[in-house]
Amino acid sequence: MLKTHNCGTLRSTDVGQDVVLAGWVNRWRDHGGLAFVDLRDRSGIVQVVANPDVATEAHETLQHARGEYVLQVKGRVRARPEGLTNPDLPTGEIEIVAHEATVLNPAKTPPFYIYDDQPVDEALRLKYRYLDLRRQRMQRNMMIRHRAVKYIRDFLDARDFVEIETPMLFKTTPEGARDYLVPSRVHPGEFYALPQSPQQLKQLLMVAGFERYFQIARCFRDEDQRGDRQPEFTQLDLEMSFVEREDVMVLAEELLIGVIEACSERRLLTKPFPRFTHEEAMQRFGSDRPDIRFGMELTDVSDLVADSEFGIFSRTVAGGGQVRGICAPGCGDYSRRQIDELTELAQAEGAKGMAWLAPKEGGDVRSSFAKYLLDEEIDSIVARLKAKPGDLLLFVADQAPVVNAALNGLRLELGERLGLRDPDVLACCWVIDFPLFEWDEEAQRWDPSHHLFTAPMPEDLPLLETDPGAARGQQYDFVCNGVETGGGSIRIHQRAVQERVFELIGLDAAVARERFGHMLEAFEYGTPPHGGIAPGIDRLVMFLAGEPNIREVIAFPKTQQAADLMAGAPSPVEPEQLKELHIKIVG
Ligand code: AMO
Repeated sequence: MLKTHNCGTLRSTDVGQDVVLAGWVNRWRDHGGLAFVDLRDRSGIVQVVANPDVATEAHETLQHARGEYVLQVKGRVRARPEGLTNPDLPTGEIEIVAHEATVLNPAKTPPFYIYDDQPVDEALRLKYRYLDLRRQRMQRNMMIRHRAVKYIRDFLDARDFVEIETPMLFKTTPEGARDYLVPSRVHPGEFYALPQSPQQLKQLLMVAGFERYFQIARCFRDEDQRGDRQPEFTQLDLEMSFVEREDVMVLAEELLIGVIEACSERRLLTKPFPRFTHEEAMQRFGSDRPDIRFGMELTDVSDLVADSEFGIFSRTVAGGGQVRGICAPGCGDYSRRQIDELTELAQAEGAKGMAWLAPKEGGDVRSSFAKYLLDEEIDSIVARLKAKPGDLLLFVADQAPVVNAALNGLRLELGERLGLRDPDVLACCWVIDFPLFEWDEEAQRWDPSHHLFTAPMPEDLPLLETDPGAARGQQYDFVCNGVETGGGSIRIHQRAVQERVFELIGLDAAVARERFGHMLEAFEYGTPPHGGIAPGIDRLVMFLAGEPNIREVIAFPKTQQAADLMAGAPSPVEPEQLKELHIKIVG
C-alpha cells in the first residue's frame, strides 16, 4: 500500500505516530511561512503542514500542490497548538507534520469545488460524475446504498433465500413500459428485450423448486423520466413458494423496517406499517400511494349539498358524481390570487373548477359559493370538515376519479406549503386489494393494474367471468412518503386462469402463446402457489439518504432525456456495426 493510515481516522491518541498518507488535496493555503494542505481520502480529511526550515522539499511540494492533486505524504502526527484546534473536523485536534511529500499525480482545476456541497448545475455534475462522486454528499449516499444492500443480502441469506442471477438478454417482460431492444447479429431481424423486471424468470425459479429466491436485479424501462424514475434501475426482486399474501408482506415489512432502522437517520413514523385497501386510500387521500405524513384527508359532503341551490354541487350529485373537500388549516387569509393558483392546480388535474369557503371568527364566511347555500348547509359543511375560523376549505365536484386526482394534487401542494411533509420522517404504508384490472377507454379493453401474472383474490375468481372490473387482485404496494416504492402480488399458477386473464386483456391466443408460451407450459409441470415483491432499491435508498431524487443515489445515472452526459451515450455507431446487425437507419 502507498499509505499506512487513513486520513480521516487519525485522532489525538495517534500523536507521535509516523504515518504515510495518500489522498487528494482538498484545500491548500500558505500561512506564516508554513504550507498547509487538507488531505482527503474516503475516510475524511486531515491537515498536513510543512515547515520550510525543517522539510524544505516537502514544503516546496505542498506549496505548489493545488486542489485535487494526488499526494503521498510521510510525516508524524502531532497535537495542534492550543487555540488552533478545529472542533468541526473529526481530526481537528491533530495535524501531520510532513517530512516528505510526493505528487503522485497533478490535477487540472476541477470544474466545480469538491470541498463543499454547494449547488452545482446538474449537467456539469453528470458530465464530471467521477468528480461529483468525490464530494462528501455523494460518498455518503454510495455508502448508505452499500450498507442497505448488504443488510438486505444478510437478512435474506439468514432466512434461506438463494441469490440467483437471471439474464439481461431476454424476451419481453412487460411491466407497463416500452422495452429496450437489442438486435441479434446471428438472427437477422430478431431482437432480445432487456427485462423490465425479472418477473417471469423468478416465477420460473419457483417452478424450478428454489422456494425462496432473491436478486439485486437491474431492470430496464423505456418510459418518460421523472425524479423517481430511471431507464435502468435496481430492484430487490424476491419470490417465495407456498405462501399467501400475508407471508410476503410480513417478511417484506420486517426487512424494510430493519433496513430503515439500520441505514437511515430518518425517523420511521409508525410500525407496523398501516394498511389501506385501495378503496380506502382513494376515499381518504384520493391516491393509491398516500403520503401519510400528514392528515388533511378528503371529506365527502355530497349528502349535505345534494339538495342545495348551488347547481354545480346538486347537479353533480344528481348525475352520480360527488362533492368532496379538504381543510387547509390556517389558509383562510389566502388572497384571490393564491386561491386562483389552487384552482388552476385542480384544473390541471382534470377538475372543471374548485369551490372554496373560509369560515371567519363570529360565524361569517368568505366563499365562492356560500351565497347559494342556507346557513344550516354551510354550518354542517364546516362541522363535517372540522374547520375552524382561519381555515380554508377547498371542494371539487365531479365524478370520483376527477375529484380524487384534483384533491390529491391540492392536498400534496398544501401539505408542502404548510411544511407538513417532513423530510426527516419516513411514513410507510401498504395499499392492498387493488382492482385486478383497469378499463382502457381508448383501447376498449381491460389492462392489468399490476401485471399480467397477478392472481385474483380467491373469492373474486368467478368475477373474471361476470364482472372483471369488480375483481380484486392479490396485490400489495409498499408506499413511502407518497411514493410507490415496492410492488408485489401472489401469482396465478394455473394455466386456465392465466389464459383467461390474457383473454380479458385482449391478448390474442396466438400472440399469448408466442410471448408467454413458456409460462403457460411451465404451469403444466407442477407449479407451486407462489408470490413475491420487488422494492425499488434506488427509491428506497433515496428515502434512507433523505435525497430528493434517485439520481443522487445512483453512481452513474442518466439525465431526464435518458442520456449519459459523461460518456456521451446513446451515440451513433459505425456503419459496419449496423450492417452486421442487419439494421438500416431511416429518416
Ligand atoms: P413494479 O413495476 O411495481 O413491479 O416495480 C417495483 C418497484 O420498482 C421501482 N421502479 C422504478 N424505480 C426507478 N425507476 C423506474 N423507472 C422504476 N420503475 C419501477 C419502484 C417500484 O415500486 N415484477 C414486479 C414486482 C413483483 O410483482 O414482484 C414489478 O416490477 O420502486
